[in-house]
Amino acid sequence: MKKTILITGGAGFIGSHVVRLFVKKYPEYRILNLDALTYAGNLENLTDLENLPNYGFIKGDIVDAEFVNGVFEEHRPDAVIHLAAESHVDRSILDPLSFINTNIIGTVNLLSSCLSVWNENMEGKLFYHISTDEVYGSLGREGYFTETTAYDPRSPYSASKASSDHLVRAYHHTYKLPVVLSNCSNNYGPNQFPEKLIPLAINNIKNNNPVPIYGKGENVRDWLYVGDHAEAIDCVFHRGRNGETYNIGGNNEWMNLDLIKLLCKIMDVKLNRLPGTSAALIGFVKDRAGHDLRYAIDATKIKKDLGWEPGVTFHVGLEKTVDWYLSNHQWLDHVLSGDYANYYDQQYKQR
Ligand code: NAD
Ligand code: DAU
Repeated sequence: MKKTILITGGAGFIGSHVVRLFVKKYPEYRILNLDALTYAGNLENLTDLENLPNYGFIKGDIVDAEFVNGVFEEHRPDAVIHLAAESHVDRSILDPLSFINTNIIGTVNLLSSCLSVWNENMEGKLFYHISTDEVYGSLGREGYFTETTAYDPRSPYSASKASSDHLVRAYHHTYKLPVVLSNCSNNYGPNQFPEKLIPLAINNIKNNNPVPIYGKGENVRDWLYVGDHAEAIDCVFHRGRNGETYNIGGNNEWMNLDLIKLLCKIMDVKLNRLPGTSAALIGFVKDRAGHDLRYAIDATKIKKDLGWEPGVTFHVGLEKTVDWYLSNHQWLDHVLSGDYANYYDQQYKQR
């Protein structure tokens, strides 16, 4: 094998798409997926890869420094693509500490292990940190986030991600660790845990349950199909310049209410319901605390420097996503049990 790449968080939503892309596209790489299998991690996302010779899974917690060191000593990865994180803003409002632990301490543990194993020779090594546009804060009705926008995180989730970004850059500056970062906008697509807006709405519409819209539904997000994000990560991993940051976005801004209305139209067709049936389920609930108004990425740099741009239009991507959720009942049933049921009650009962 030419290279060993450790991908953290590979059993999660985006991570599973990245793992699949790398395992299938690069048979000469050994891909090791390190994941704690929290409520968001699901090996059912990767059953098609289980027996492939260039794929391996390691279960463990990146917060455990001794465990992380052991993995590095044993497998001596040439590169890390770091996606493992607590990723849901609403959960970070209920329980900030687990975000501090995984997103900050977990990232430092990985950085420190890279240093100790690569210390002799950093040539050809890379720590690729996957981050979010939320570190830049919230936009008004105009303007875009660029790679030089000042950090202004406003939720425990985004503050923990911002902190991890700073630490990655600090290790690059101080210890000359080869790093690259990317900050992406909202992803959607198959395998996303149904606590996030789009899969939550699909699941509720399917079951004739209310679709909760926070506040007035005026908040704006820039949506990117997860397959496009995985391709962008491939591109940054292979062609990104040492020490650089790349913003990744969909050039695809939607107000939440408009997005949900479009989704309702698609669901009516797919479920053979009369037009307007799904939209009748829309309900406005108490707003998210500190709810950021608008995120929008200026993705000029990655297009200009690396030649990446999104390939899947929103209508096509949403249809593919709806089709996937409507034909994967077992996947949904499995993830909806246990922890999620408790979280859903806690999150929505007061609203
Ligand atoms: P996710 O919540 O679906 O998956 C996270 C994965 O990390 C899970 O498999 C989980 O088991 C694992 N994990 C969590 N804590 C861990 C720990 N302590 N040790 C080891 N593994 C652990 O997340 P996602 O939506 O796929 O996001 C992946 C990454 O991309 C995150 O870093 C997130 O901040 C970033 N990101 C997400 C989006 C988005 O729209 N979802 C957008 C931009 C950036
Ligand atoms: O911008 C990138 C970020 O996008 C990622 O870093 C995060 O990991 C990811 O979770 C996502 O964060 P958001 O908070 O934007 O995503 P979420 O799907 O939770 O919410 C999208 C929008 O929909 C947001 O304005 C809140 C709103 N919302 C969400 C839920 C779950 C609702 O109106 N109702 C809901 O029930």
